[in-house]
Amino acid sequence: MVVSFIAGLLFALGQHVLYKRLHHTTEDDEQRKVKLVLYGRALAYLSKVAFGGCVIICYRQRIWRALRDHAFSIWSIDQLFLATEDPSLFVNWETISKASTVVAMALVIWLIPLATIIFSPGALTFGDYLEVGSAVIAVPTLNFTAESYKNYRNATYNRKNVKQRSLIYVNTTDKAASAPGWFDYYDQYSADAERIALIMAYSLKEQSLSTEDARLSSCGGDFNCTYTISFIGPGYNCEELARGADDDQKLAEAGAPFDTSGLAPVGRLAYIADVDRGDYSRPQQEGLGLGGVPIDFISEDLGIFQTEPVLWIGYSIDSNETLPADSPYNETWKTRYDPHIFKCTHYETKYTVDFNYSGPYFNTHISFDFISPIINTTFSRFDNGSVNWEDIVPVENYISPRGDVPLYKKTAAYHAMGSCLRKFLRGKIELEPPIPGPGYPRVYSEVTKTRLVSNTTAMPKEDLPMLLRDFYTDMILSLFSDPKMLVVAEERVLVNTTRYRSSFIYDSGKLWACYGPVIFCVFVSLTVGAWTIWEDGTTFSVGFSRIMVTTRNSTLDHISRGACLGNDPFPPELMHTRLKFGVLVEYTEELDYTGQDGYQGLSHCTFGVPSELGPIVKGTIYAGLKDKQRMRIMKKEKID
Ligand SMILES: *[C@@H]1O[C@H](CO)[C@@H](O)[C@H](O)[C@H]1NC(C)=O
Ligand SMILES: *[C@@H]1O[C@H](CO)[C@@H](O)[C@H](O)[C@H]1NC(C)=O
Ligand SMILES: *[C@@H]1O[C@H](CO)[C@@H](O)[C@H](O)[C@H]1NC(C)=O
Ligand SMILES: *[C@@H]1O[C@H](CO)[C@@H](O)[C@H](O)[C@H]1NC(C)=O
Ligand SMILES: *[C@@H]1O[C@H](CO)[C@@H](O)[C@H](O)[C@H]1NC(C)=O
Ligand SMILES: *[C@@H]1O[C@H](CO)[C@@H](O)[C@H](O)[C@H]1NC(C)=O
Repeated sequence: MVVSFIAGLLFALGQHVLYKRLHHTTEDDEQRKVKLVLYGRALAYLSKVAFGGCVIICYRQRIWRALRDHAFSIWSIDQLFLATEDPSLFVNWETISKASTVVAMALVIWLIPLATIIFSPGALTFGDYLEVGSAVIAVPTLNFTAESYKNYRNATYNRKNVKQRSLIYVNTTDKAASAPGWFDYYDQYSADAERIALIMAYSLKEQSLSTEDARLSSCGGDFNCTYTISFIGPGYNCEELARGADDDQKLAEAGAPFDTSGLAPVGRLAYIADVDRGDYSRPQQEGLGLGGVPIDFISEDLGIFQTEPVLWIGYSIDSNETLPADSPYNETWKTRYDPHIFKCTHYETKYTVDFNYSGPYFNTHISFDFISPIINTTFSRFDNGSVNWEDIVPVENYISPRGDVPLYKKTAAYHAMGSCLRKFLRGKIELEPPIPGPGYPRVYSEVTKTRLVSNTTAMPKEDLPMLLRDFYTDMILSLFSDPKMLVVAEERVLVNTTRYRSSFIYDSGKLWACYGPVIFCVFVSLTVGAWTIWEDGTTFSVGFSRIMVTTRNSTLDHISRGACLGNDPFPPELMHTRLKFGVLVEYTEELDYTGQDGYQGLSHCTFGVPSELGPIVKGTIYAGLKDKQRMRIMKKEKID
């Protein structure tokens, strides 16, 4: 009993250990997967056999106790002996009422397979689980300082041995870089920078460009991941100066090149951008030869960045609200137009970008920290307050290629990115008013090729200042799409990865919810069984031999006359005869079968009708008990 119980426990534990080891492991080989599942089932089966065996032994022990305590109809006795195959015991009131413990144990025997074989393998399933991890890996970032030290004469190569591309093209005063006082000066943005800006602007996606394998390389494998990088780059800091007609106060203070009067509804413009004030001119001077080398003379201000053009942008939004009847604009417009003017200044900006790669997509959350204007100069004012567009001050903030070369080249790179953006902004959109009609826009700008205008009306979008800032940010981040760019660098950051893996999933709670009750019931049965053995002083079994030796009673011979073939159907009146197991009180024919072996005087235990039986008392020597001891005594007597 105890061995089966322990074996059952061990098999259950084995199943737990097996499942535990399979938990969150992936098995791609279908054959092996099936095999592993079968191992678990086999353990469940073995544990069922062991636990079942334990309860069956206890059960048998207990039947005999029941048979001694109560008289049962032969029908019920049959059921008790056959309980492991025949569940009709559970609907027989006689067995339930007289032998409740036994019936309960039988029930346990019947229910064990349900819990172990059927339900316990359900604790191991196959499914997707979210594997969460983190690692410090190299992710792409931007380092505009790299442009500072770029010399076009010396090619540089990235880790994949690809020649790195600069954001700028330069002209020089001396190709050999040997003439005294030589310097390189900015020419224009490079073809690579322009290409990236164009693709990004034309793509209309609310997202920066990235490489095909951006997620795989940034996340360090087939993961979804999040990480944060920060870098310093150019950014436009936008502020709204006028909202609604006649809101010109701030504009004048800021020295705007235009006011709201040109914009609808007063004027005819839906959009106007003045983005080239003080721009770096190209060519820088007369008489430049190949590579921009000055032929005759080098002008004083060759290559000097005097200012970085401010973006002055006005736009008017159609509110789609019908004008009131008394509106002065009723003669031309049907709906109300709200003019806005904002300016954006080019700043050196600290970007903090949270990347979130998820499946085929990624999204970014960006925070801006505008550090300082890229070139800290402004236009001077006349005494009467109007702006002198010819005079940029202070001169000491000019950025010269003759002085701090790294600063100059970095500024040039920022300027190049800004130029790429400004290309799309300059120009205007005029509206032909709906009255007398027909109303339509006349476009003199590339802005309508970008996502800055509504894709349905081709008019600028409502929140243009923020959209413009983000549009430019996406242009900067799109540099990641071309790893051969010089500014694309690597930074080691903590990357939080997640991935769905299809694997085994083991719920130990479920397993023990199956085995817990089983172990408890088996343990109770075991205790009851052991207690019964101690009380009875002997063990019992239910084999044929035991039936044979416990039915040596002439009363039974009489009763069973006519049914001795064991045939079916069994005579019903016999079925209902009540029998009990006990000590036969009168035994007249004892000598007939005990012979001369000296058993006389010993009462023997047998099935019989209750009236002829007495109770079995532990410790008493009955015929058939303590055989060996008696045989020894007998032999000794014979020898004597
Ligand atoms: C950027 O590049 C420069 C020059 O290659 C290097 O000195 C600097 O450490 C880099 N900065 C970062 C943040 O990697
Ligand atoms: C650089 O040199 C080329 C060739 O002479 C010239 O076309 C170009 O305008 C120059 N760039 C600047 C900014 O002067
Ligand atoms: C990343 O993006 C996915 C899908 O858009 C979202 O479910 C997830 O919460 C995001 N993770 C973080 C850390 O923002
Ligand atoms: C202000 O003064 C400048 C130069 O003296 C002149 O060109 C300009 O027209 C004036 N502007 C106004 C609004 O008077
Ligand atoms: C227009 O833009 C909106 C928002 O950006 C987008 O949801 C929509 O699909 C676009 N419509 C078309 C026709 O592209
Ligand atoms: C990444 O997330 C997406 C969306 O949540 C999901 O469909 C995809 O399976 C995930 N990829 C991995 C490798 O876990």
